[in-house]
Amino acid sequence: MILVTGSTGFVGRALMRALDYHNLDATGYTGRMNNPYALREQLDGIETVIHLASAEATGRARALQHVDIDGTQRLVEEAERTGINHIIYLSRIGANVNSLFPTLRTKATVEQILDRSSIPTTIIRSATIFGRDDRFLNTVGSLAFWNWPFVFLPAGGRALLQPIWVEDVVRCLVMVSDPLDLKGYRGRILTAAGEERFRYEEIVHIILNTTEMSRRPLAIRLQWVRLITRTFFGWRRRPPITTFFLDRLNAPEIADLDIVFRQFNFHPVPLRHQITYLRNPGLARYVFGKN
Ligand SMILES: NC(=O)c1ccc[n+]([C@@H]2O[C@H](COP(=O)([O-])OP(=O)(O)OC[C@H]3O[C@@H](n4cnc5c(N)ncnc54)[C@H](OP(=O)(O)O)[C@@H]3O)[C@@H](O)[C@H]2O)c1
Repeated sequence: MILVTGSTGFVGRALMRALDYHNLDATGYTGRMNNPYALREQLDGIETVIHLASAEATGRARALQHVDIDGTQRLVEEAERTGINHIIYLSRIGANVNSLFPTLRTKATVEQILDRSSIPTTIIRSATIFGRDDRFLNTVGSLAFWNWPFVFLPAGGRALLQPIWVEDVVRCLVMVSDPLDLKGYRGRILTAAGEERFRYEEIVHIILNTTEMSRRPLAIRLQWVRLITRTFFGWRRRPPITTFFLDRLNAPEIADLDIVFRQFNFHPVPLRHQITYLRNPGLARYVFGKN
């Protein structure tokens, strides 16, 4: 029996569909991460936890402390009490306690909490994930739409990324959750990243081609985009773009190109094969964001 935290999020929804498809006995956690009673109740009878809950989408460092760090601490305490066999955590490439960026520091702190627990853990450090309802390509597409006649390239668009399709990440999560652990994933830190490495500006061009938008690329300093983002969106509970998103354009998010094949024995889908969802996003998504 698998319990998925963050099952209503972007990755969580795809994961729940996949677990259902594979006839795996799984349920989504319905409480808040800091509620020990809900955790205790819902961990009862569970063998594996796939931990996806995170406050990254809020763009607020305080929420990261509360949900990601304190929430994971609470989850571990209750999981140790209940005797869970395995926790799987979706982290980020670049997780580092000394990182300049709040999300990467938080990911590393959560990894440490899990590592110090008595429960066998598997960590998958993922690159930025794309797919219908993502907050990556949809966000870049929205920015291009609204910034007519330009499309801004923060930091000159030179940031390196290796995006991976959400269904491929989910495939990795399902493989790792094998109760028999035939491939020996338990106790390991694995990496999930696409097999193509792009500069941000290349991704922008792919989006413009796919959506048939015509925009003139304009390099802009990252500090300016940060200021604009804070001013226009900082007050929203789930802003369409956050400074956390912009942090990713500061730290290269790269891994060996064959890393998924070496660890999981399949080839991730190329970016251009799975982005038709960008063609007709509808005005509502451009205006309000989807998530
Ligand atoms: N998306 C990416 O590109 C990417 C890349 C690498 C790693 N990851 C990691 O993968 C995980 C999932 O990402 P995602 O993109 O699916 O995030 P998401 O769409 O923002 O989903 C976050 C989930 O966490 C839940 N959540 C937030 N606060 C909570 C709280 N206090 N208590 C309980 N649940 C809470 C949300 O539920 P509510 O909506 O009900 O609050 C939602 O189900 C995150 O840890 C993220 O860092 C994501």
